[in-house]
Amino acid sequence: MILVTGATGSIGRHLVRRLTDLGVPFKALVRDPATDLACDLVVGDFDDPASIARALEGVDRLFLNGGGAIPVEGPQPMVRQQITAIDAAVAAGVSTIVKVSVWGAKPGGKLAEGAHWEIEQHLKASPLAWSLLQPSGFMQNFRTGAGTFTDDGALIGLAGDWRVSYIDAFDIAACAAELLSPTRLAGSHRSNETYVLTGPQALTQSEIAEKLGVGTLALTASEMAARLTGLGLPAQFAADIVDLWQEVAAGSLAATTSTVEELTGRRPRTFDEFLAA
Ligand SMILES: NC(=O)c1ccc[n+]([C@@H]2O[C@H](COP(=O)([O-])OP(=O)(O)OC[C@H]3O[C@@H](n4cnc5c(N)ncnc54)[C@H](OP(=O)(O)O)[C@@H]3O)[C@@H](O)[C@H]2O)c1
Repeated sequence: MILVTGATGSIGRHLVRRLTDLGVPFKALVRDPATDLACDLVVGDFDDPASIARALEGVDRLFLNGGGAIPVEGPQPMVRQQITAIDAAVAAGVSTIVKVSVWGAKPGGKLAEGAHWEIEQHLKASPLAWSLLQPSGFMQNFRTGAGTFTDDGALIGLAGDWRVSYIDAFDIAACAAELLSPTRLAGSHRSNETYVLTGPQALTQSEIAEKLGVGTLALTASEMAARLTGLGLPAQFAADIVDLWQEVAAGSLAATTSTVEELTGRRPRTFDEFLAA
């Protein structure tokens, strides 16, 4: 039995569909049972460790994913939440965890980069078999509003011709499904591996804006920080986001990998295919 966490999220919804299509037994952890997910559900919250322990009863493999970095003082809650879930998985006799991390997870990294690195270390030190998915930026980010687009619809970014190898969450889910429930490619998969997952091409903001049919707003780092604090974000959180933007503008997410094709046997979706879907 597989437990899928983050089941209502960008990756989770695709994973639920994929595991259903494969006919693999699984249940989805949800905070609110009034969901439109058509699968077995178990109610739980990462902030309620007893509910996670209950959800893990009878579970052999865990897909571990939750929300990203949030504007809080001090450590990101995801660190405590996911470390608690890993410990609960060990106690419950789970054999394998497939965890969503981030490409660029590193000690001292800003926001999700540092938080995921801490969780990765905890998982690697556990007795469990693990797979770490380190995706590039999600194509799904362009579906969200504040922070991504101006009020009149222009795509916001740091100035420059930098590129990102955006990936569709559909492909992240497909890789997770293979690792959780190896199908025909099973023999070639090993556990205790880190997989950097990217889309098939690296696009500039202008190329993406053109595909979306919108304009762009190119900002300097200080303009970006002012814009984020103007949206109500705490100054340190805004500064950390700008630092991450600057890493990206320096090319940290520009490379492409062949990992999706190696894991799933097919090429990852292009941005055009994502938009069509
Ligand atoms: N966006 C990017 O470009 C990017 C790039 C690389 C890595 N990542 C990583 O990807 C992850 C996010 O994946 P995603 O986009 O698929 O997720 P998402 O769409 O943001 O959804 C978050 C999921 O986590 C669940 N969740 C949140 N808090 C929870 C709690 N306390 N207890 C139980 N469940 C909880 C949510 O459930 P509810 O329905 O109850 O809210 C939802 O299913 C993050 O770790 C992020 O760092 C993102």
